[in-house]
Order: sequence, then C-alpha cells, then structure tokens
Amino acid sequence: MEYMGDRYYWNNKFEQRNDIPLNPEKSLVENIKYLKNGSVLDVACGDGRNSLFLLQNGFKVTGVDFSDKALERLKRFAKTNKYFIEVKQADLMKPDSLDDMGIYDNIVINHYRLAKQQIYNIKNNLSDKGVLFVCGFGYKHKVDNKIRECDLIQPEDFEGIKESFELLKYIENEDERGFFTTYIFRKK
Ligand SMILES: C[S@@+](CC[C@H](N)C(=O)[O-])C[C@H]1O[C@@H](n2cnc3c(N)ncnc32)[C@H](O)[C@@H]1O
Repeated sequence: MEYMGDRYYWNNKFEQRNDIPLNPEKSLVENIKYLKNGSVLDVACGDGRNSLFLLQNGFKVTGVDFSDKALERLKRFAKTNKYFIEVKQADLMKPDSLDDMGIYDNIVINHYRLAKQQIYNIKNNLSDKGVLFVCGFGYKHKVDNKIRECDLIQPEDFEGIKESFELLKYIENEDERGFFTTYIFRKK
C-alpha cells in the first residue's frame, strides 16, 4: 500500500472512515482571505473536508477526484448540510484530465501533487486574477513507506508558471505530521 496509491487503495481508505468529515486544512483556513470570490475547483478533493469548508464560506464548489467512494461521501456530507456540490470523477494522472473541467475563480490542490505540465496548463482553468492554492508535504519532508519522494511538492513544480502568475504568498510549516509548503498564486 502506498500513499497516493491507485483508486482501489483510496476507495478502501475512504470506506474505512467514519461518518464525520475531517477538519479542513489549517493553511487553507488561515489563508482563505487570498481566494477570489466565486467558484473553486477542489482538485483531488477526497471526501471533501476543504470543499465543505469552502461551501460554508460562500464559494460555489466543484470537487474532482478518481475515488467514487470519496465523491459519494462528499455528496452525502454536502447534502446533510444542505449545500450543493458538483462532483466530477477523473483520473488526474491523465495529462488532459483538466482540459474540459471548466473555468473557476480559484483552484485548490491540497495534498496531491499534480504533474508539472498540468500545473503549466492550469491557467486555462482560471478566470482573470484567479487564485491557485497548493498545499502539501514539501521538499524537506522525511519520506517513509507512506509518503514517497515523488509525492513531495517541489519549488521546481511551479517554474513554468512564473510568467502567467504572481506568487502572493509562500509558507513553510512544520508540525507532528511533517513539513508542509503552501503556495498561493494569482493569475496575472
Ligand atoms: C491525501 S488525499 C487528499 C484529499 C483532500 N485534498 C484533502 O486535503 O483532504 C489524496 C486524494 O487524491 C486522490 N487521488 C489520488 N490519485 C488520484 C488520481 N490519479 N486522480 C484523481 N484523484 C486522485 C485520492 O482519491 C485522494 O482523495
């Protein structure tokens, strides 16, 4: 079993969770003010702790993930709270998976490492001055059997977007779970 494994691995993981959504990512909570009002695409949303938080804060949210079990849970959590959420099932390993996903005011990627080429193309999924929020285990995180070197977000991941985005904020955090980085970009 590997961290960020295949759909079977993730479906299993979500099936074993209890009926309470996890708390949203601290960095997203602390930096929500950087987001542009409007819509959010939550990339690799899982069962939606961040999507739910964004819905609570008045954003229109679309979640994308390849785990049908995660998306079922997210839809259920949203319904219980009387929120509407749009969900899309897609395999983000496919280079063109975001091409027809639409245009959003914000894109949130939390604990998923998108391929460099997809990050390069993500400007096409953002409106003018749209915000890209990326948070996850960063380059200094100690790898183990759950978190592989290839899962760590690297500064080089964003080299290709320097011309089309301005970096609003970069944060490094360390806690008992490890070393995290947050990047907040705004489309120029
Ligand atoms: C560590 S979880 C993060 C979930 C959520 N973003 C959060 O912060 O709670 C990683 C998520 O990526 C999804 N995922 C992994 N590989 C994927 C792929 N190739 N395509 C789509 N989703 C994928 C998993 O199903 C899982 O929901």
